[in-house]
Amino acid sequence: MDTGQDLKQIVKEKYGEIAVRSVPASSSCCGPGCGCSEEPIMADNYAGLVGYVPEADLGLGCGIPTDGAGIRSGNVVLDLGSGAGNDVFVARRLVGETGRVIGVDFTPTMIQKAEANRQKLGYNNIEFHLGDIEDLPVESGSIDVVISNCVLNLVPDKQKAFAQIHRVLKPRGHFSISDVVLSAPLPSALRSVAELYAGCVAGALLRDEYLSLIQKAGFRNVRVTKEKRIDISDDQLAGILSPADLEAYRRSNARIESITVMGEKA
Ligand SMILES: C[S@@+](CC[C@H](N)C(=O)[O-])C[C@H]1O[C@@H](n2cnc3c(N)ncnc32)[C@H](O)[C@@H]1O
Repeated sequence: MDTGQDLKQIVKEKYGEIAVRSVPASSSCCGPGCGCSEEPIMADNYAGLVGYVPEADLGLGCGIPTDGAGIRSGNVVLDLGSGAGNDVFVARRLVGETGRVIGVDFTPTMIQKAEANRQKLGYNNIEFHLGDIEDLPVESGSIDVVISNCVLNLVPDKQKAFAQIHRVLKPRGHFSISDVVLSAPLPSALRSVAELYAGCVAGALLRDEYLSLIQKAGFRNVRVTKEKRIDISDDQLAGILSPADLEAYRRSNARIESITVMGEKA
């Protein structure tokens, strides 16, 4: 079994490659999941959203966490695992000129790409910081709304991630997070396939387990506001799974879902 540090290294390398290759909304790499096929498998269509910046959309999300997130003019918003800045640019329009949006990501080339997008547009109320979600470089009690899109499944210690979200939020602040969860456990052989981990599948928790972690972190009014089933075809899986593992996966009935979940700090 890989350690948390090994898993983070796999994730950094994978998303480092994607940032460099950087084909907007259809990053072509290897394997299934977030940002890993000819066509994005999990990502929603952002075209038409106010604030949308096509260069920042690498097709890596699995929902639209800003949608219905209760982001208000003047808010300070934090995007965890901000990638090239897709949700940061959308949130910027919601907070307006008096608000601020901060993106944090631990892959240096993602931060560089996001910063290049920001500079090109000349926006000065957004910022991107290199940092790990398990140890956020953000002051305690400083954030109105935390958002994140298809990222926490990639974080080895999810309890720590939710504790960090709780720490940085202001009292009565809230979060809106889109992420991948499972309906049943994956066969154990599949959990150690690096491509499935980096592709947002093998690191996903069972839905109930995920929601219970959030409750344990001290959030209240926790609710799933959106959900959708993710279908990955045999062709997409065939490149990374042996025929036996593919069959075990199909037999396991472990359906992959994307949910958007919200919760509040007391
Ligand atoms: C699937 S991509 C999603 C990117 C972005 N949210 C979007 O929708 O375009 C996952 C991102 O999370 C970042 N990431 C994964 N684990 C992280 C961690 N522990 N701390 C900070 N960033 C992390 C990766 O570097 C990558 O940019």
